[in-house]
Amino acid sequence: MKVLVVGSGGREHTLVWKLCQSPKVSAIYCAPGNGGIAALAECVDIKADDIDGLLAFACKTDIDCVVVGPEVPLVLGIVDVFEKAGIRIFGPSKAAARLEGSKVFAKDFMARHNIPTARYASFDSYEAAVSGLDAFVLPVVVKADGLAAGKGVVICENRSAAEDALRQIMTDRVFKEAGSRVVIEEFLSGEEASILAVCDGKDFLLLDSSQDHKRIFDQDRGANTGGMGAYSPAPLVTPQLMTQIAGQVIRPVVEGMRAEGVLFKGILYAGIMVTASGPKVLEFNTRFGDPETQAVLPRLKSDLLELVLAAVEGRLAQHRLEWDARACVCVVLAAGGYPQDYATGQKIGGLADVPEDVVVFHAGTKLSGGQVVTAGGRVLGVTAMGDGIARAITRAYAGVAAIHFEKMHYRRDIGQKALTRS
Ligand code: AMP
Ligand code: GLY
Repeated sequence: MKVLVVGSGGREHTLVWKLCQSPKVSAIYCAPGNGGIAALAECVDIKADDIDGLLAFACKTDIDCVVVGPEVPLVLGIVDVFEKAGIRIFGPSKAAARLEGSKVFAKDFMARHNIPTARYASFDSYEAAVSGLDAFVLPVVVKADGLAAGKGVVICENRSAAEDALRQIMTDRVFKEAGSRVVIEEFLSGEEASILAVCDGKDFLLLDSSQDHKRIFDQDRGANTGGMGAYSPAPLVTPQLMTQIAGQVIRPVVEGMRAEGVLFKGILYAGIMVTASGPKVLEFNTRFGDPETQAVLPRLKSDLLELVLAAVEGRLAQHRLEWDARACVCVVLAAGGYPQDYATGQKIGGLADVPEDVVVFHAGTKLSGGQVVTAGGRVLGVTAMGDGIARAITRAYAGVAAIHFEKMHYRRDIGQKALTRS
């Protein structure tokens, strides 16, 4: 089969890497891809949100199956367009992707279907939102309704910070139309985990748990990022907790969507806060997580293309997944300055020197005259498996030690939370 992966980050490199292992894949393309993906797939210079361009390419190339990485094309409706053209595509429809594309929709949906989440209210004007703050204790969380590349959530310690956040989102429109509505919600404390499920509209299969590290510095300090590292499985998520999340969150989403006339197909990613009163949903994404995918897929023994096809064709009820019992750790190497301004075009050295048991997934890289150079904030995801999390951590950091580029920044504590727990 000819497969097209849409996107250009570490998640997409991992998807391509895993799909390549399927004997069913005869050719693989990635649009637009990156400097690392180019070693495995034919990179096609079409942006991930250029749906017409992607469709034209897929038709011309006789693509059999499309796997979409990022949220923007999903929210724009790429799945509806490809389905209409009769091309298999793995991901939620535009209507289903509202779970990620609109926080107001997601919160209202959770309220309708009794899915545990933080208490909230939504507003469509700055004045109403400011008065709405009165109903919440501090700290309070302010969220832009629409997609904001992971930057639309502000945890506010005091009233004036909350008013500032509302002003920036609603009045200054720093996230453009994504800020025409906001959600204000109760602050939840606890530890976070990422739960991903593959869904086919009626059934679902859980992927093993993982944990992201969202802050830029060690000990969860500093600004929020797209994710500085991940590990899988997350010992926080016991089998009992996983069963609870499946029953209280994942199943109600798939069934609730169906009851509302929408089939949820693709990946449902629930960002969960494990609180003293049980698991609560922080957010939904409707795609693979980045960098969670880098830590989860290397542990999946089953064929990824078979899984994707089973989901697209509504056959998950008969499908089983097999997992490698070892742990996997992914350490993200970022460009100094990220998540604010950073340099690009820095030469990356040492890629050929990483130990054999380490896989380096490229995120923001490109090839420039045969040399791999940096081309984004998150540059590489250095990934290793090990018997137990401690061993996986040691191996991943052995890989990190081989690599260098100017102003390279990474966290030194990826996986430590799992260690304290186990
Ligand atoms: P989201 O994009 O909604 O996942 O939010 C990004 C991050 O903000 C989450 O991973 C949490 O660390 C934090 N966050 C979001 N909502 C809450 C909340 N209600 N209470 C505490 N932290 C939150
Ligand atoms: N790692 C968080 C995300 O993919 O949104």
